[in-house]
Amino acid sequence: MIDYTEKIPNNVDLGRDRVLQRALEHWQPAYMSWWYDAGPTESHNYEVYLRTAITVEPDGWAKFGYVRMPEYRWGIFLQPRNAGRAINFGTHRGDPAWQEVPGEYRSTLRRVIVTQGDTEPASVEQQRMLGMCCPSLYDLRNIFQVNVEEGRHLWAMVYLLHRYFGRDGREEAEALLERRSGDVDNPRILGAFNEPTPDWLAFYMFTFFTDRDGKFQLSALAESGFDPLARTCRFMLTEEAHHMFVGETGVSRILQRTCEVMREHKVETPGDVRALGVIDLETMQKYLNFHYSVTIDLFGSDASSNAATYYTTGLKGRYDETKIADDHVLADEVYPVFEVVGNKIVERKVPALTALNERLRDDYIHEIQAGVDRWNRVIENAGISFRLRLPHKGFHRAIGNFAGHFISPDGEVLTKEAWQNHERDWLSAPEDHAFVQSLMTGRVVDPGKFANWIAPPIRGINGQPLNFEYVRFN
Ligand SMILES: [Fe+2]
Ligand SMILES: [Fe+2]
Repeated sequence: MIDYTEKIPNNVDLGRDRVLQRALEHWQPAYMSWWYDAGPTESHNYEVYLRTAITVEPDGWAKFGYVRMPEYRWGIFLQPRNAGRAINFGTHRGDPAWQEVPGEYRSTLRRVIVTQGDTEPASVEQQRMLGMCCPSLYDLRNIFQVNVEEGRHLWAMVYLLHRYFGRDGREEAEALLERRSGDVDNPRILGAFNEPTPDWLAFYMFTFFTDRDGKFQLSALAESGFDPLARTCRFMLTEEAHHMFVGETGVSRILQRTCEVMREHKVETPGDVRALGVIDLETMQKYLNFHYSVTIDLFGSDASSNAATYYTTGLKGRYDETKIADDHVLADEVYPVFEVVGNKIVERKVPALTALNERLRDDYIHEIQAGVDRWNRVIENAGISFRLRLPHKGFHRAIGNFAGHFISPDGEVLTKEAWQNHERDWLSAPEDHAFVQSLMTGRVVDPGKFANWIAPPIRGINGQPLNFEYVRFN
């Protein structure tokens, strides 16, 4: 069980380490001022029907109730330690998992933790204005749930920095509260986390695509030989599932509503669809193209010596590492990556160790494709022939072998000019954003009501009805 009588709820026996406890209690007010400054706007007095973790057991781990978000009990929860756990890959394979940071990997590990930690507050910052134009109380509650849990994920990483990295760690923990998404002088570390999330369609796409990048990164870190990191990430994954659910069902509900309106009014062209106050399927495809391409950049370069080092040293594994049947060292393996040669995309086999980013990206794409297939079923069931599809992996990339090339969604290598001539067919333009935002000028807050552009969900949260008062504004 988690001890909520403590100032900082935790299951790591924080009270036994007074120095660490004081350091974190010192960071806590700085975190709160970050929340007031960069968290959901105008939300501080709302009472929100939120879940709060009460144990780290997979079943029944959360309780639901009304909480004012600034009073949410952010805390430090690690999956319990498995005393026999070994390192499962790389040159230290078979050794007991590390309970302390190996000196030679200290700075690499710190970098990994800071990079993961930086994404958590970034997404809260990106989403902070969306409560002002929510499509329902149900959705408003969901975005707030995502926000408080991303805040908790920051706590999870900051705990590791404070507990294991001394003064450097404390400085990094402060810097995590100082960077801001999209800030020209002090931006967040990774590109996709500096993009604006200006409307609810972008929010659902973000939680479907980008939170799922989080899932894959956390899964790879949950394999880490550094046991406290592995245990922290395991518990974060429990919370992450809901974020991706919000994204997938959000997009699905928009598709459903659009299709209903298209069928009812027998319209097909984007202009006619928009005139009825719902989002046309072409615009959905453009948003998908954008969020997919900026998110697969997050996995890094196709061939990366850093990725090889992380693996060989036992710091970051593969997705489902322990379920893969191979030698878990990969010294003699190869893996296919793609590169542009002249006007063709060619496959090249590279050492598997250097291709671990690409492999994780491919695992991610596999799961994403299944989600897109589920979206397409909604369209198909409505009897509409349009299908969403993932663009080619090389489309609109800024990192890796495709960066600097102009690849169409079909995977053709184009000239810059030819690509730009089509850009508006493939990516949303300012007028597309303006249209989407024109549907979201105010918020829908009557219990049980939903904005015209989105269908209600199938069921409410925690067995509550759809017309439940998920947020009280006071
Ligand atoms: Fe997170
Ligand atoms: Fe998340």
